[in-house]
Amino acid sequence: MINFQFTEEQEMIRQAARDFAQNELLPGVIERDEKQIFPAEQVKKMGELGFLGMMVDPKYGGSGMDTVSYVLAMEEISKVDASSSVVMSVNNSLVCWGLEKYGTEEQKQKYLTRLATGEIIGAFALSEPEAGSDATHQNTTAIDMGDHYLLNGTKNWITNGGSASVCLVIAQTHSEKGHRGINVLIVEKGMPGFEIGPKENKLGIRGSDTHSLLFTDVKVPKENRIGEDGFGFKFAMKTLSGGRIGIAAQALGIASGAFELALKYSQERKAFGTEIINHQAIAFKLADMATNIDAARLLCLKAAWDKDNNLNYDRSGAMAKLFASKTAMDTTVEAVQIHGGYGFVKEYHVERLMRDAKITQIYEGTSEVQKIVISRSLLK
Ligand code: CAA
Repeated sequence: MINFQFTEEQEMIRQAARDFAQNELLPGVIERDEKQIFPAEQVKKMGELGFLGMMVDPKYGGSGMDTVSYVLAMEEISKVDASSSVVMSVNNSLVCWGLEKYGTEEQKQKYLTRLATGEIIGAFALSEPEAGSDATHQNTTAIDMGDHYLLNGTKNWITNGGSASVCLVIAQTHSEKGHRGINVLIVEKGMPGFEIGPKENKLGIRGSDTHSLLFTDVKVPKENRIGEDGFGFKFAMKTLSGGRIGIAAQALGIASGAFELALKYSQERKAFGTEIINHQAIAFKLADMATNIDAARLLCLKAAWDKDNNLNYDRSGAMAKLFASKTAMDTTVEAVQIHGGYGFVKEYHVERLMRDAKITQIYEGTSEVQKIVISRSLLK
């Protein structure tokens, strides 16, 4: 049986996210983008509303919701402010999920409870100056010193890098074992030797806090390793599979936000004696945008449903991200075009959405990486 209806609870979450986005994120979103201001207050409120640990068990401070609800909330928040939604996405999917799934009870009590409530936020550090898509080639090392690991190396483009209190760092322990010798360590801000590099000056999601992270002889206690020795790469891959659903929903939100603005504008703006929506040149663009957005939403919800039903979501998540991020790019470009000159200035929001859209084709695996994941799954 297929049921395309949301439950009452899912509808409530969607409405709560929509209200939050309109009331708390929309005011100031242009200024935060322009001046690269991290939405600290807004993130705090997201935590209070339960958006930072959406799928975490309430016994660890989470909201105990399903992935479908997470997709609905991500879409609504991303329609208005993708800089805030990426904080939400990373904290939920890349930090809380892995800790809850693979962490020890002590790790959950010590870190997850605070991350899920938003008391603190987390970051996920995999990318390096020379390891983006080719994630198995980690130059950061975590040498086993008996009771602790000695961590050395540099991580690049880390979302929440400046604000996170806890960072999951992927590093090579046994180089002779390749990706099977990689570990994931919970590293706390303030550990001696852990430095935060300068903030990146980005094209889009400029309110989010992206930094390089530098580790010099950081002593990380053994009990901060997640999973068995050598589990780090699998941990990263499994975590990113779920993360891709979150970023797909972010891309969907950016696209639907731009579409809603373009639809409204085209019903108000007159040219050649009528509202521009009455010209097929505009109406056909809107028809394409609406169709692609619906298809992207279905892919996002299918991947979320797979995850909620304990089915494999590597492929469906990659498909959702591949398609939704292309839809975000195409839709925002067309939204700017429909707005004409107004689309090119900040007050109309669509130029920001267009800039924000691009990163969804890059982070948590480029579109090319999604195609690797999808094509390999076809061969299995
Ligand atoms: N689940 C479990 N294990 C997996 C897996 C998955 N989804 N995908 C791969 N693996 C395992 C494989 O089984 C294999 O293990 P074994 O050899 O023991 O069987 C191991 O991982 C290596 O897999 P591959 O041989 O397929 O590895 P590859 O080198 O060919 O690379 C890749 C595959 C898909 C390209 C991968 O490297 C990848 O996903 N790269 C992109 C990384 C990425 O998304 N980076 C984003 C950074 S995080 C970020 O952006 C966060 C942010 O700030 C918002």
